[in-house]
Parts: sequence; structure tokens; C-alpha cells
Amino acid sequence: MSTAKKEYKRVTVKSLVDMKKHGEKISMLTAYDYSMAKIVDSANVDVILVGDSASNVMAGHETTLPITLDQMIYHATSVIRAIERALVVVDIPFGSYQSDPKEALRSAIRIMKESGAHAVKLEGGIEIKESVKRILNAGIPVMGHLGLTPQSIYKFGTYTVRAKEEEEAEKLIEDAKLLEKLGCFAIVLEKIPAALTKKVSESISIPTIGIGGGKHADGQVLVIHDLLGMTHEFNPRFLRRYMNLYEEMGSAISQYVTDVKNRDFPNDDEQY
Ligand code: KIV
Repeated sequence: MSTAKKEYKRVTVKSLVDMKKHGEKISMLTAYDYSMAKIVDSANVDVILVGDSASNVMAGHETTLPITLDQMIYHATSVIRAIERALVVVDIPFGSYQSDPKEALRSAIRIMKESGAHAVKLEGGIEIKESVKRILNAGIPVMGHLGLTPQSIYKFGTYTVRAKEEEEAEKLIEDAKLLEKLGCFAIVLEKIPAALTKKVSESISIPTIGIGGGKHADGQVLVIHDLLGMTHEFNPRFLRRYMNLYEEMGSAISQYVTDVKNRDFPNDDEQY
């Protein structure tokens, strides 16, 4: 398998399938605002996910359930203004697609029309088949999401690894094949055993993007606040922190407070 990297001036859903075909791993990160999206895009991340994890890291909710469609559109619009290269995928939030396929399509259209995003993501397999079909029929690219699906946290009861048992693993493989057959362009696999990720990735031709799914996924995704160490209480095994911004930002801000209190800021050169 070749690992030569092709240059993608603008990443599209087709580029991702192409990357899988050529053995190039896909990088995906979340972003929810203009400034962060600009940095992420400039660093050549292939896919920016405007995730409903905004509910946790931006709004401070315990789960992803409270975030609304309007709020997701607000975040997506800010991200879209910043990007030049990345493909921007937006989560359809809880309560905006589960009740019926027409509502799912209406929500997807609002996201695409009002934010300018490139694709949407929905959680689930066979249960959301009709919604996925309807959205795809309207020409909107869909990314699937299987395994630990945080919008169903109250059904699962915990955030532990999913599909460890045979029956759930079999259903996940069937769901992945179904999503591919329907026309999804990629599938997020969250917190499942690495061996299952390998099996799924080898069974379908569209890319899998793992988060806690191990090294065999065709790509990886992390929440940007976790990668940068802005969050410090969330420590799952799969998370690699590349910085400790919680401490670095805290000490910079403390220094600012000290400088203001001590009349050190602003100094003569920092005034008009
Ligand atoms: O909302 C989100 O950030 C996500 C990722 C965890 C895949 O869905």
C-alpha cells in the first residue's frame, strides 16, 4: 500500500475516499469558532468537525443533548468563515432528526443553507436509515457515527467502550455496511475495540474515522480542547494531549492580573 501524500488544495468528500484508497490517514479535529478554525485549517487538518461536543466544551453542559440546531448553525457559520482547505462537517444535534426523516432533512438543509457547511453527521445505524436516505437524496453528504454515540448516553448509562460483546459488534458491522450502501462518505467509530475497528475498516470502502477506536481506523478525530489540554478533568486512555493549555493559559492570565495589580501593565511603551 502506497503512503505517498497527494496535495489536496481543497478537501472534498471524494478526497477522503481517495485518501483511504491510497493508504493516506485522514486527520480530523473539532472546532467551533472562527479563531480556532483558522489555526486548525492552517495546520492542514483534512476535516473540521463542528461537533455537538460544543455542548460540553463551549457551553459547559454535562452531555451533548442540550445544544440546539440554531446554536450548531451559529458555531458552523463562524467556522466556515475561517476555512480555506478543510472539509467542514456539522453534527445534527439531538432532537433535530430522530422523530422523522422529513425533520431530519429540514435540519440538514438549514445547516447547509444557513452556515455554508459541506456535510452533516448523524449518530446511529439502521434506526436512522430513512433519514440518512432522505438527506442523501437531497444531495447532502452524510458522515455516519457508530459505537459510542453520545446522544444516546442515557440509553447506554456510561461512557465505557462499546461493542465488546459479539452481538453488538455484529450489529455495528452490519450498520457500517448499511451506511456505506446508502451512500455515506465516511463513518466515525467511537470507543470500540481496535480489532473491531480493523474488521469494519476492512469490510467497507469508505473511510472510518476513529476516536478511541485504535490504530486501524482510516483516520483519527479528537476534540480540539482535549488535544490542546484546555480540558483537564477528562482523561480517557485514547486521548493524547499535545499541550497543557489549561496550565499555560492559567499562568499567563495570573501574570496579567499581577501586572495590573502592580501597576506594571501598561508601561510607558504600551500607551499613547
Ligand atoms: O461531537 C463531537 O465532537 C464528535 C466527535 C467526538 C467525533 O462527535
